[in-house]
Amino acid sequence: MIELNVVQPRTYRPDKWWVEPFAMALYFVFFTIYVIYVTLVAPLEESIQEWDTSSAGVNYISPFFSPDLKKFFGIDTPVVNIPGIGDWKVSPALLLIWAPLGFRATCYYGRKVIYRSFFWSPPACAVDGFAMRKGKYKGDGPGIFAIVHLHRYFFYLAFILAVFHWIDTFFAMQFRASDGSLAYGIGIGTLLSALDALFLTLYVISCHSFRHLMGGGANTPGTIRYWLWSKISKLNKYHGLWFWLSLFMIVIVDVYFRLVATGTITEVRWLF
Ligand code: FES
Repeated sequence: MIELNVVQPRTYRPDKWWVEPFAMALYFVFFTIYVIYVTLVAPLEESIQEWDTSSAGVNYISPFFSPDLKKFFGIDTPVVNIPGIGDWKVSPALLLIWAPLGFRATCYYGRKVIYRSFFWSPPACAVDGFAMRKGKYKGDGPGIFAIVHLHRYFFYLAFILAVFHWIDTFFAMQFRASDGSLAYGIGIGTLLSALDALFLTLYVISCHSFRHLMGGGANTPGTIRYWLWSKISKLNKYHGLWFWLSLFMIVIVDVYFRLVATGTITEVRWLF
C-alpha cells in the first residue's frame, strides 16, 4: 500500500515511476555543468585551443562550435580583459549555445521532461503533480511560460544548425598529411560527426512545428503535403528518442574531439 502524505506525490502506481524523471533530471544537471565548462571554464584554461583539432591533421569541429563562425562568416570572437584573470577569448560556443538550448527548452518533449523532472507537475503518468494539487496549473499561456511559443522560430535556427552539422561531417572527411597535402578518408571522428548530424536531423525534422509547417491542415490524402505530414508523423512518434540520442551525441562527439585535439588519443583513420 502506498503511503500518502503532503510531501510525497499521490499515486496508486506500485512501480518505480520516479526512476525515469530522476534519471532525466540527473542528465540535465550533468549537461548543464558540461555546457558551463565548454562555454566558460575551458576557454579560461591554458588549453584555450582545445576545440581546434587542426594540429591533429583533421578538420573536426565539435557540435558546440558549429557553425564555425570564423570559417563561414569571418567572425572572430572578441578578447575580453577580465581584471585579475587576464585576457579571455570569448568562446564561439558561448555565442552559439542559446539557439540549440532555446530550441530544446521550448520543445514539446523537452518541456515534458522539464515539467516532470524538475517541477514534478506531474512527475509521471497517473501521479499527482504538485501544481495540479494546488490548482495552480494554467498551461503554457500566461507569464514566463508564454515564451515557449517562440519554438517555431527556434525551429528555423535549429534547421539551419542541422544543415551545418552535415557540412561539418563533409569537412570531417578531410585530413592533412604530414607533408601538408590534403587527403580524403574516414576517421572515427567522421563517423561520430555523421551520427551527430543524423540524430540532430531526425530530432529537428520530427519536430511538431515542422510537421505543422509541412502538412498542417492538409486533410486530403493524395496531396504532397498530406504525404509529408504522414511521413513526419511517423518520425514524430519517436521524437523523444531523437531528443535524447542527439543530446547524448553532442557530449560524446565533443569529448572525443577534445581527446583528439589534445593528442590524448591517436585516431584510427582510413584514407581513400
Ligand atoms: Fe520538439 Fe519541436 S517539438 S523540437
